Amino acid sequence: MARAGRQTEELTPRSARAESVREIAGRYAGERGPLLVILHAVQAEHGFLSDEDVVEIADVLNLSVAEVHGTVSFYHDFRRTPPPEHTVQVCRAEACQAVGAAGVFAAAEEQFADRADIEVREVFCFGNCALGPSVSFDGRLQGRVTVDDIAAAEAGWSR
Ligand code: FES
Repeated sequence: MARAGRQTEELTPRSARAESVREIAGRYAGERGPLLVILHAVQAEHGFLSDEDVVEIADVLNLSVAEVHGTVSFYHDFRRTPPPEHTVQVCRAEACQAVGAAGVFAAAEEQFADRADIEVREVFCFGNCALGPSVSFDGRLQGRVTVDDIAAAEAGWSR
């Protein structure tokens, strides 16, 4: 019975996404410690790492699904769900904290609390430390951000 199930699984064609993930994983599989590179590359290509992606990557690298899942779960940069339309990343590292990042982060969380299309995330240093608080709005880095800048961002992202 189990054998019949396995045969069915082997005959099921892979999705286009699975084929793409396997191609990306195969591209880096021969490198030293390729898992993180592959995870970043798959996320860059597909926006997030699905359960199916984890299985495909584990298969290509001959790792257990638990090993790959554990790595994905450990790093906050990896997404398990499709990304929202907009992302606000507030630096919470020391230099930005010293110039008000906590207040900017709190303002962003409050400002966008009812917007499912906007995600507020904390990050730890953009390398823009001299111009903190630093915030990335959809990948566009801005320095010396104030609470007013947070409100202005929402005005630009009308529903
Ligand atoms: S500490 Fe915020 S950009 Fe470096």
